[in-house]
Amino acid sequence: MVYDVWIETSHQSLCTRLVTYFDQRSTLTLFPESNFGTRAEELGPHTSTSGPKLVRLSGVTASPEQLHACSREELLAVLAAQPAPAGGVRLQCLPLGLNSMLLAALPRSWRLHPVHFDTVLHVLECEGKLNWGLAPAASLWRTPPDLRVARGCSRAVHKLQEALRALRGGACSRAPLRLGTVVDVGAAPGGWTAHLATMAERVIAIDPAALAPEVAALPNVTHLHARSEDALADILRLAPQGADLLVCDMNLVPPEVMPLVAALLPALRPGAQVIVTLKFVGVGRDRATAAKTLR
Ligand SMILES: C[S@@+](CC[C@H](N)C(=O)[O-])C[C@H]1O[C@@H](n2cnc3c(N)ncnc32)[C@H](O)[C@@H]1O
Repeated sequence: MVYDVWIETSHQSLCTRLVTYFDQRSTLTLFPESNFGTRAEELGPHTSTSGPKLVRLSGVTASPEQLHACSREELLAVLAAQPAPAGGVRLQCLPLGLNSMLLAALPRSWRLHPVHFDTVLHVLECEGKLNWGLAPAASLWRTPPDLRVARGCSRAVHKLQEALRALRGGACSRAPLRLGTVVDVGAAPGGWTAHLATMAERVIAIDPAALAPEVAALPNVTHLHARSEDALADILRLAPQGADLLVCDMNLVPPEVMPLVAALLPALRPGAQVIVTLKFVGVGRDRATAAKTLR
């Protein structure tokens, strides 16, 4: 039987990624069976705030059993029988609870690492069955993992650069910005921190997660391994004269972010500036609450 499979994703970018992976299926094991279809296409519009976010796989001949690949025991047996991938392996699991199961069960010869990796093991649980794929990182992201930190960050950095241009006095201004102390909240892996370090005397980067080693090693960067809610005393100790700028890129929704930012305002000198990215998730969700909180 030949049929079409429609896949609904939570974000439009996942549709794009899915189609990209499908187009590269000759080199990836994400679509290991040739019977997963002959064509993948996105159904627009291409935005995360509207549109159905659907991908259609046409010409699928796999049975539902084949689409639902295997049980946990079968997956572990298949992976244990494979030679351990050379280099680091990143786990990309949904639900996230599968990470701890795999961490405990994968052979020790698999060198698992979330940042420095050459291979990605994708596992997705659906109706009690696991779908999985093992793919070289270099074919999933356009840049190799080592460069991905720097380049991936630079994508995040565009937002910051735009806001900093406004601080400098207008979108066209090229005048260099000179800052004393900057507080970067939600700093890991460090794209913003690295950029701020080029224009500030000191950057205090706050994040419980690790900074990329090359960012942590910058002489004017101090990393506080802490959540923002626990960081105020340390910031005041490091910059008793008050910071010139606070930037915040925490991956929290606005109603969560704004009270955390407000709690750090005592760390700023009078007239200091604040830049916060507001991350609206889903369609219309949180907007009313966010607008109320911001006011
Ligand atoms: C989108 S990333 C930041 C990316 C960063 N601007 C860059 O350019 O590399 C969001 C970060 O917020 C951090 N975060 C989330 N909640 C936090 C909290 N309560 N306190 C500090 N950091 C937090 C996460 O650990 C994560 O590293």
